Amino acid sequence: MDVKNTMKLSFPSKSQNEGFARVCISAFAAQLDPTVEEIGDIKAAVSEAVTNCIVHGYKDTIGMVEMTAKILPDNTIYIKIRDRGVGIADVKQAMEPLFTTCAEGERAGLGFAVMESFMDKLKVTSQLGKGTSVIMTKRLKTRNE
Ligand SMILES: Nc1ncnc2c1ncn2[C@@H]1O[C@H](COP(=O)(O)OP(=O)(O)O)[C@@H](O)[C@H]1O
Ligand SMILES: [Mg+2]
Repeated sequence: MDVKNTMKLSFPSKSQNEGFARVCISAFAAQLDPTVEEIGDIKAAVSEAVTNCIVHGYKDTIGMVEMTAKILPDNTIYIKIRDRGVGIADVKQAMEPLFTTCAEGERAGLGFAVMESFMDKLKVTSQLGKGTSVIMTKRLKTRNE
């Protein structure tokens, strides 16, 4: 895999770091010259993934969230977000639209659906007691070549 650029970030699962992660991914993605819509999609997907680490992965505790991003060939951005929290027993069920184990938010159960629709590919792996990892990629329109 020809990786053109990469970055790795880790931060504690505090709610204020959700906004921090959004700003960081948009700063990193800026080198791809994204459209306003593309950058909005990427930020929304990252926001959902990081929020899940904070509210589900670490629930009432604080743990570290890691975000890795890469620029791949063909104007593609790769983003991996992982926690070492409680994990998901049934990933397929968790990814079904409207499935939630905590129906508090206004868009409860739609986090994975948002990631899936705003990005091109979404892969979720998880182990109970060990944590969850979300890998997303999106190919951006080429505007300057
Ligand atoms: N990082 C995570 N750690 C543990 N469980 C998770 C994680 N991300 C998602 N889940 C589980 O998957 C479910 C669906 O997630 P999502 O689609 O974002 O909806 P919501 O967050 O509104 O519940 C969550 O309710 C939770 O049970
Ligand atoms: Mg969610």
